[in-house]
Order: sequence, then structure tokens, then C-alpha cells
Amino acid sequence: MSLILGIETSCDETAVAVLEKRKILSNLVISQVAVHKKFQGVVPELACRKHLENINSLIALALKEAKVDYSDLSAVAVTNGPGLVGALLIGLMAAKTIACVYRIPLIPINHLEGHIFANFLETRSTRIRNVNYTNKGIEPPFLGLIISGGHTDLFLVKDFGKYEILGRTRDDAAGEAYDKVAKLLNLGYPGGPIIDNLAKKVHRLKTKRQTINFPRPYLWGSWDFSFSGLKTAVVNYVRSHQPLAISRQREDIVASFQSAVVDTLVNKTLKAAEKFKMKQIVLGGGVAANSALRTAFDREKEKGRRIYYPEPELCTDNAAMIACAAYYKMQKIKCKMQTLGIKADPNLPLSNWKEKESYLDA
Ligand code: KG4
Ligand code: ZN
Repeated sequence: MSLILGIETSCDETAVAVLEKRKILSNLVISQVAVHKKFQGVVPELACRKHLENINSLIALALKEAKVDYSDLSAVAVTNGPGLVGALLIGLMAAKTIACVYRIPLIPINHLEGHIFANFLETRSTRIRNVNYTNKGIEPPFLGLIISGGHTDLFLVKDFGKYEILGRTRDDAAGEAYDKVAKLLNLGYPGGPIIDNLAKKVHRLKTKRQTINFPRPYLWGSWDFSFSGLKTAVVNYVRSHQPLAISRQREDIVASFQSAVVDTLVNKTLKAAEKFKMKQIVLGGGVAANSALRTAFDREKEKGRRIYYPEPELCTDNAAMIACAAYYKMQKIKCKMQTLGIKADPNLPLSNWKEKESYLDA
């Protein structure tokens, strides 16, 4: 039985999961939103302290919920970048300790890779009385799009662990733009889900609302993204319409902002799929939980395109996705057992798996 413990602490969620192959036995997340809310953004020092406070008890709880013991584990998977270096180190130290004590392999996983592999988890689907575990049957090659608070990356996945980056954001990530617009309008933190809900409300209303024609930053001619211009357009609009007396005005602004983000992401991704003849598109990252984005991609699915995104709770940071990536990585590469040489890298690039990876002590 292949039991993998996953640990993820790259930003502001302390997350631990236990998988049996790709099946989730437990998947726990301690969110730090309440801690960072008053600063309207993640404070790295506070994030590290909270990870440190919570990691050990969360690991114990995840094992208990999965009904397994440390000695049952076949491997430990941990995010070693990109992310906040202090936050990464907490998860990495916990993972190294377990790997050394129980003499099991430690598999370092790139956080972005984790977001893609969230689509490969077997999730529970309940059909009258039976609980089935299913996976989506995605096979490389496919086009990947990671849209999170720190990244907006478009890339080809030629095989598991074999990537070709096509483009990325030149400035703000999509989630960052959501968070900044929410901050500008005093809506709260994190901005993505708040704006998503407000925009949903606007679309549900029968009355005609104002649509503001914010720019769609397509950057045609490159596969890069750029969201800072759009954010500035929102700032300028807000400044020139002061005071924003009524909540109705704010709702119109966020709904129009969201339409611009969704159009940009969807159209650019579809163009890339066409250009590179990719029949499957796989999304991941917090912004992939966005309901308008999912609806827009669903419309494309109805035309016969194969587009995948994880359940909303598996789009945002979690450790099941990290353990799932490790499950695939362990089948592809031969790791040496030395674990102490694995380093946290805040800027870890998405790079190809080598056939043999060794993590010798420096
Ligand atoms: O992947 P994630 O949990 O953490 C990073 O790796 O960054 O993504 C967090 C980002 C935040 O910027 C948050 O505002 C955004 O994802 N987000 C959303 C939604 N849920 C989370 N953005 C738009 N719509 C949502 N429903
Ligand atoms: Zn993430």
C-alpha cells in the first residue's frame, strides 16, 4: 500500500494530507486568513510563526483522520518552493525530520506542479448508496494554466514532469489583481472569493446594471499576461468617481473587473490550445475556483473541448495536491535517500524532472 504524507506551507495555509496512491484519506488546512486580514495581505513573519505553531499537531491530526501511523507511511512529499522562504522552511524541516526518523523517501515538490496535480486526485463521487473514487482520465500532453495569488503561468505539459513554459505574468498575478482591487474598494481579504460573490450577486439581479468597459490586456504576439494595467484602470475609475457612495457602484466595478480578467484568461488560453494543438486544458490555483471563469470554460466544454479544473477547495492551497504530484514523481524518477540536502527555494522554477534526482547533503 502506497501511503504518502503531503505537507504544504509555502504561503499562508498550513496544510497536511495523507493519500493512498491518489485517493485522499485526509486533507486538512489551517487557514491564516484571520491573522493576515487586518493587514489586507500576507505578513511573512506572522505566516512562519503560525506554521510553526500548527504544523506538528496538524500532522498528527491528518494521520489520525486517515487512520494510519507514521510507520505506515511510504514517503513524505513537501513543497520546497516557490513561496515565502521562512514559511517553506517550516514544512521542509517537519518533512525532513519524519523522513529521517522513519527512513522513508522525501519528495520535494514545486508548488505550481502541485496545483496541476490537484486535477489528478481521485475524488469521492456519491452515486445512490455507492461511493466511488474517480479521476478525470487526463493524459499528457496538455496545456496547463496556473492562476494563483503569486502566479499566472501558461505552459505545455508534454509528459508528467516535462514542461515548456509559454508565458507568465509580467507584473501582477491574476489573484494578486483580485486582492488589490478588493483592498482598493475596502472589501476585505482575500479579494478573490469576495469579488466572486459580489459579481455573482450582480449577475443574479434582474435590474440592468452598469458595465464599465475595463481593458482586456491580451498582449497578443506573446503568451505573457499583464494585470497591472487593468488594476490601474480600476484605480483611475475609482479616483474619478469619488465618493463611491453606494455599494451598488462598487458591485458594478468588481463585476466589470472580473469580466475583464475572465475574458483575458479564457481567450488567451483557448488561443494557445489552438496554436499548440492541445486537446486538453488543465487549470489550477486559487483563481481557478472562480465561478465566472468556470462558467466561461464550461461553455467551451459544451462545444466539445476537454477542460479540467479541480473542485473549488482543491484549487486553493492544500497538501493533497502535493502528495499527488509526489505519487507521479516517485514512479518516474529514482530518488536517492539522502534528504538533508533538499533546500527551500523561494523562486523555484518549474523545471523538468530528471530521471535520477539526488539530494546529497551540501
Ligand atoms: O493558489 P492559492 O490558494 O495560493 C497561491 O498559491 O497564491 O491562490 C490564492 C489566490 C488569492 O489571490 C485569492 O484571492 C484567489 O486565489 N482566489 C480567487 C478565488 N478564490 C481564491 N480568485 C477569484 N475567485 C475566487 N473564487
Ligand atoms: Zn497556490
